[in-house]
Amino acid sequence: MRVLVIGSGGREHALCRSLSLDPQVTELHCAPGNAGIEEIATVHPVTATDPVAVTALATGLAADLVVVGPEAPLVAGVADAVRAAGIPVFGPSGKAAMIEGSKTFAKEIMTAAGVPTARAFTCTTPEQAAAALAEFGSPYVVKDDGLAAGKGVVVTSDLDAALAHAASCERVVIEEYLDGPEVSLFALSDGNTAVPLQVAQDFKRAYDGDEGPNTGGMGAYTPLPWAPDDLSEQVMTEVVRPTIAELAVRGLPYQGVLFVGLALTSKGPRVIEFNARFGDPETQVVLDRLETPLGGLLMECATGTLSGNISFREGAAVTVVIAAENYPGTPVKGDPITGLEPTASAYVIHAGTRRDGERILADGGRVLSVVGTGPDQAAARANAYDLVARVKLRGSHYRTDIAR
Ligand code: AMP
Ligand code: GLY
Repeated sequence: MRVLVIGSGGREHALCRSLSLDPQVTELHCAPGNAGIEEIATVHPVTATDPVAVTALATGLAADLVVVGPEAPLVAGVADAVRAAGIPVFGPSGKAAMIEGSKTFAKEIMTAAGVPTARAFTCTTPEQAAAALAEFGSPYVVKDDGLAAGKGVVVTSDLDAALAHAASCERVVIEEYLDGPEVSLFALSDGNTAVPLQVAQDFKRAYDGDEGPNTGGMGAYTPLPWAPDDLSEQVMTEVVRPTIAELAVRGLPYQGVLFVGLALTSKGPRVIEFNARFGDPETQVVLDRLETPLGGLLMECATGTLSGNISFREGAAVTVVIAAENYPGTPVKGDPITGLEPTASAYVIHAGTRRDGERILADGGRVLSVVGTGPDQAAARANAYDLVARVKLRGSHYRTDIAR
């Protein structure tokens, strides 16, 4: 099977790594890729959000399967264009991807499907926003309705800050605050049938002790030894299957991964958000534990033939992100990185890197992540940090408390 992966981050490197380990995958391509992906796939300089260019590449390569990683190409209709050319695609249509692209649409689907989530109002004027904030009280949760690359959400006990964020957005969703630990569940769907991967947890704040600004994610681990055994089955029953069914009824069959961000509240799991893609860096640990060959699974999703048989490896995985100087502000780029060689129980997944001759250079905010594995979380964590200590990048920073 000839597979083309679209995207260039840690998620795509993790996808490519797992695909490269699937004996059914005979040829692996990626566009645009990064320095790590380049080592295991043929990379192509294509603009990932350009449906015409991606379709031309897929057709030219005679790809059997196209996997669309990030949300921007999905919302731009890249999956639709490739599918229209007759090539199986793992990734929802532009309309179905609005489950991530519009918070209002996501709420509408959840309401129709009876999915537990925070009560919310969509507001377009300062008066509506003020009324909604007064209704729910502090802490305030204010979300830009559009795709905001993770920067659209403000959670604050400062009413003026909440009003100011609302005023800066064209449409905002203001909702009830959900209290409780957050977890991520990724479900693979072929449009009708869905299966869960293992539940994971990521660390969103930049610094130790959950201090500092929000980021795309500074680390993750799976499984969650503290979570109830039936959590993923509960989320499949209460959230994923009704959501997939509701989308199907609306003529939007969902073929791809549904990323459910949940708060485990005292009243049960509540959806914080949906994403139309794998999460980063949770993907790194979740795919590490997946035993079923990935290429076959994604092909089943793309062709509506998901069997539902899926198995995971025993043990644990922990990933620690190494970020560039100044991230999550404007990152310093261009410095060389060394110490990337894997150990017996840890390896590097590249995110923002590029190759310059013999050197690997930092080329993004989250530069790479180190995945450690072991029989349990403590061992996986120790193995991850052992390799983290060997990676050298001037000015870089990482959290020392991931999965502690
Ligand atoms: P999102 O962009 O929707 O993932 O939101 C970013 C972060 O804001 C989430 O990971 C949560 O930590 C927080 N958040 C979003 N919605 C809520 C909510 N209703 N209650 C509490 N925290 C929230
Ligand atoms: N780690 C969360 C995300 O990918 O949005």
